[in-house]
Amino acid sequence: MTDALLSVRDLRVQFRTRRGPVTALDGVDYDVYAGRTLAVVGESGSGKSVTARAIMGLLPRRTSTVTGGRIMLGGRDLLSMSKSARQAVRGERIAMVFQDALSALNPVLPVGFQISEGARKRRHLDRRAARQLAVDLMDQVGIPAAKARVGAFPHEFSGGMRQRVLIAMALAQDPEILIADEPTTALDVTIQAQILRLLTDLQAQRQMGLVLITHDMGVVANTADEIAVMYCGRIVEQGSCGAIFESPAHPYTQALLDSIPRPELRGTLLPAIPGSPPDPAHRPSGCSFRTRCPRAFAACVDEPPVVRWLEDPRVGQPPPAAEPVPAAGQRLSACHLCVRAEPNGAGTAGGGAIGGGAR
Ligand SMILES: Nc1ncnc2c1ncn2[C@@H]1O[C@H](COP(=O)(O)OP(=O)(O)OP(=O)(O)O)[C@@H](O)[C@H]1O
Ligand SMILES: [Mg+2]
Repeated sequence: MTDALLSVRDLRVQFRTRRGPVTALDGVDYDVYAGRTLAVVGESGSGKSVTARAIMGLLPRRTSTVTGGRIMLGGRDLLSMSKSARQAVRGERIAMVFQDALSALNPVLPVGFQISEGARKRRHLDRRAARQLAVDLMDQVGIPAAKARVGAFPHEFSGGMRQRVLIAMALAQDPEILIADEPTTALDVTIQAQILRLLTDLQAQRQMGLVLITHDMGVVANTADEIAVMYCGRIVEQGSCGAIFESPAHPYTQALLDSIPRPELRGTLLPAIPGSPPDPAHRPSGCSFRTRCPRAFAACVDEPPVVRWLEDPRVGQPPPAAEPVPAAGQRLSACHLCVRAEPNGAGTAGGGAIGGGAR
């Protein structure tokens, strides 16, 4: 596989809140490749959007601090760039599609104007060329009668069509990387499938790197090339779609996969992950997932999980950005304690089992 377009390494973000500092990201690593889709999955609050906003340079300036890490794009660290250089990257190389199309669009401006606005400024297009660009992009994202509707306002479109408008807006920048943050959550299942198909088709045509953020493991099964599983501000497991679905190593990934509805289980209750993710202001010591993990044992209380590249003999930190990144199919996983623990909870490291069930 070729080099990654974008490499996030050991990214750490803190928010200042009335309750004190909150660590939202606690060392995130992932890579985005041209022409491939990375699905970032995890429950609400795991840090999927904060990572995306950090990449885009769109974290709130007054209340957040990037406390560590690197975001490498074309050999440069975005975090050390000036504000204007960062803006140019956002305008030209990385684009983002937000979840809520209605609030992401300006209600009093025609959609065609909004689609071409960035390109018009950057490429100094005149009105006619900008309008043509908007019509072409509306065509590409499957908005019928694009020529007639280029002057329409957002409220004149359905939810699914508004989402297509947002995708057209992002494509107007001709980005190398497209980050789609829950682009289909507000839509019904049929439209959801159409939008996902559109995104993956466009990604293949343009050879973009697509980051698809979702908490729905069912959605990623037919869409992703790679999957990064986030929990409590960290990537707990990462690998090719096939590897993750066939042999998930981390108990959290296993639990996410178990909660996907399956036709053969109709009429039975889906297994749910007990409890809810910890408040990041009060993280448990050791492994963040241990309070909900059926395989937790004594060592999980004290030792933070050590991630390792499974096909790399080194145990410890993932390789720095300068080193070769793993090929598709290789896996970054997982808590070494979990990997070594017996399924009944009797771990091989760190002493006696605490026993099944959450604590
Ligand atoms: N502006 C903010 N101020 C304080 N804390 C924040 C802020 N934005 C996010 N957080 C916290 O950072 C953590 C990660 O949030 P994030 O929005 O990335 O979650 P997510 O994985 O995208 O969840 P969801 O699936 O619900 O969108 C959460 O604990 C959240 O409360
Ligand atoms: Mg989010």
